[in-house]
Amino acid sequence: MKKVVISLGGSILVPSLEKNRILKYVPVLREIASHHQLFVVVGGGGEARRYIDAARTLGIDDGTGDEIGILITRLNATMLVAAMGDDAYPRVAESHAEAKKFAEHRKCVVMGGITPGQTTDAVAAVLAERVRASVFINVTSVDGIYSADPKKDKKAVRYDRLTPRQLIEIVGKAHLVAGLNTVLDIIAARVVERSRIPLVVLDGTDPENLRSAVFFGRYTGTVVSDTDTEPLPV
Ligand code: UTP
Repeated sequence: MKKVVISLGGSILVPSLEKNRILKYVPVLREIASHHQLFVVVGGGGEARRYIDAARTLGIDDGTGDEIGILITRLNATMLVAAMGDDAYPRVAESHAEAKKFAEHRKCVVMGGITPGQTTDAVAAVLAERVRASVFINVTSVDGIYSADPKKDKKAVRYDRLTPRQLIEIVGKAHLVAGLNTVLDIIAARVVERSRIPLVVLDGTDPENLRSAVFFGRYTGTVVSDTDTEPLPV
């Protein structure tokens, strides 16, 4: 069985509690998990941002804000695990070692954040490295990696392909604060470089996009790899 690690952005899965896409994602994740060993790392989304912003107005430091963010990612992960029913391992993994252990049961393994000072993209990048995934897919709210934030800069251009080095140059410009929203954090980018596991960044607003990417290799997005090989379909 091939291993697939997905970083499922909180902005996609739970932009807010009311507008969550959990039920829309469950059938797609189930289908992927029936063909591959699937690991899903869930982000914090709008609720994490609300909590972190509220903490900041209370004068709470960013490290503690990160801990609060991690709790929200695990809360979202718990919701996904429960919604997946028997198709997911019934506990949220709290470390990479635990995720590997849970995968012995051959069910979808779900986790959230683990360490302050990073985002769930970094968690997923290290997980992909540790389980030797065939591909690391970052499901986010933009259709790939751009030269600048496409929501703010109309001249931003989307890259079809990047080398890990180019990725590091692009994301290295952003600085780290709790609740920061960039397409991929710098730690994740560095791990992608050293692990040499291909990364695909794609838009998950419609879960069907992920399905057609994994099974048919049909998607608009950015591939980050040192080679010319197409990482999708898996
Ligand atoms: P996310 O991974 O969701 O960050 O974690 P994000 O950049 O807001 O991504 P989207 O919007 O969900 O796609 C939310 C916050 O939780 C803390 C950080 O403060 C992060 O910004 N966090 C998360 C950590 O400190 N460590 C982790 O391992 C994960």
